[in-house]
Amino acid sequence: MRRYSVTTFGCQMNAHDSERIKGMLESLGLGEAVAPDDADVLVFNTCTIREKPDTKLAAYLGEAAARKRRHPDLVVAVGGCYAEAQREQIFERYPFVDVAFGPGSIPHLGDWIEAGGHAVPQGRFGSHKTFAATLPMHRERRFSAWVQVSMGCNSVCSYCIVPAVRGREQSRRPGEIVAEVEALAREGVREITLLGQNVNSWGRDLAPEIRTEFGELLRACDKVEGIERIRFTSPHPKDFRAPVIAAISECDAVCEHLHLPLQSGSSRILKAMRRTYTRPRYLRLVEALRDAIPDLALGTDIIVGFPGETEADFQETLEVVEEVGYDTAFTFVYSPRSGTEAASMPDQVSEDVKRDRMERLVGVVQRTAAARNAARVGRVEEVLVEGPSRTDASLLRGRTRRNTTVNFSGVSDPGELASVVIEGSTSTTLRGRELSLVPA
Ligand code: 5AD
Ligand code: SF4
Repeated sequence: MRRYSVTTFGCQMNAHDSERIKGMLESLGLGEAVAPDDADVLVFNTCTIREKPDTKLAAYLGEAAARKRRHPDLVVAVGGCYAEAQREQIFERYPFVDVAFGPGSIPHLGDWIEAGGHAVPQGRFGSHKTFAATLPMHRERRFSAWVQVSMGCNSVCSYCIVPAVRGREQSRRPGEIVAEVEALAREGVREITLLGQNVNSWGRDLAPEIRTEFGELLRACDKVEGIERIRFTSPHPKDFRAPVIAAISECDAVCEHLHLPLQSGSSRILKAMRRTYTRPRYLRLVEALRDAIPDLALGTDIIVGFPGETEADFQETLEVVEEVGYDTAFTFVYSPRSGTEAASMPDQVSEDVKRDRMERLVGVVQRTAAARNAARVGRVEEVLVEGPSRTDASLLRGRTRRNTTVNFSGVSDPGELASVVIEGSTSTTLRGRELSLVPA
């Protein structure tokens, strides 16, 4: 049997796309290789959001080229966002690449990779952007699953390459989504994460007779028997309208955890980013969410060093981080992406200043997150058990509804919900003991 290996970069959408790529390859009769070195077909599912993933990919492709010189039969395929953004240049820059395809073309992978795993000589870039409702899928996790609800993005954030790469937003039909969630529940999945580039604007582009809003989708998923936890990512603050907030607060399965990308705390920079909200409006949203959803955990994304960002703008970001008190925050140094509006803006910030701001921001973020986790000590948390702890095999590992990883001594099986008393914390994890093990 010929073997494949898929290497994934980037976001959860890409990780989920890789589940489809694997499913497609398996439907062609290939099996998964134990290590990339044993593979006959190497797939790289790429990301181009910042320069760093681009550089990392170049290193991986260098290794692939060396292997291909020793094994000329090796098929090298490059998919995902970098492939879509670079299109034909891929073959110029990396002449040993056999197949390149964009994120919308996974259903057509079989047209380019023949049964048995040989590439169909084509040299043509595959880009279809069709919404494939059902595809073969190789799911990586047993009790948690991603469910794609839309693809593409209609926003015009001036720093972001994604709209150019993944195209206009296209919502998947509600009936299809709910049918997939029901099928997952029957297979034993207990936690779903709805995925979209701008997940909470889902539904607005649907045909009039089925047009509906994201809040309604949450309610429909909440009714599915067996699904205990519902998450979604990534939402845009501008699309948290009142009915969505009401649905989150009223649906038992929707978790008390939201990702609310801030990007910057300065209204001036937010305007240049074309985020369409201001600092006060973002803070009012946080307040409304916290009022409606007790015990809410908040995560965020922040960019430092956007063109024109002054020390005063950056101070505003630090102030918002302090004021909101995020449980988790992904922090990024601004990376100009060619073709985006911000890449050609004047006043690009120097690398030294970006690095300095990044360090200061990370300090505040870690201190806040550590305090938020420390406040959980002494509480009992509902933990969805995932398996043994990664650092200590005598412990179990799982996640709380607020999405914090917990390592704990316990007796529950993977897929079960355990009640865990929290006994310790760091800035990223909790430690505890299952309630049944605590002496009365
Ligand atoms: N430079 C740095 N960070 C970026 N992001 C998106 N585009 C860029 C860029 N050009 C960040 C944003 C987004 C996250 C997924 O990546 O914070 O929310
Ligand atoms: Fe995901 Fe954006 Fe990277 Fe594409 S470019 S993989 S959408 S993070």
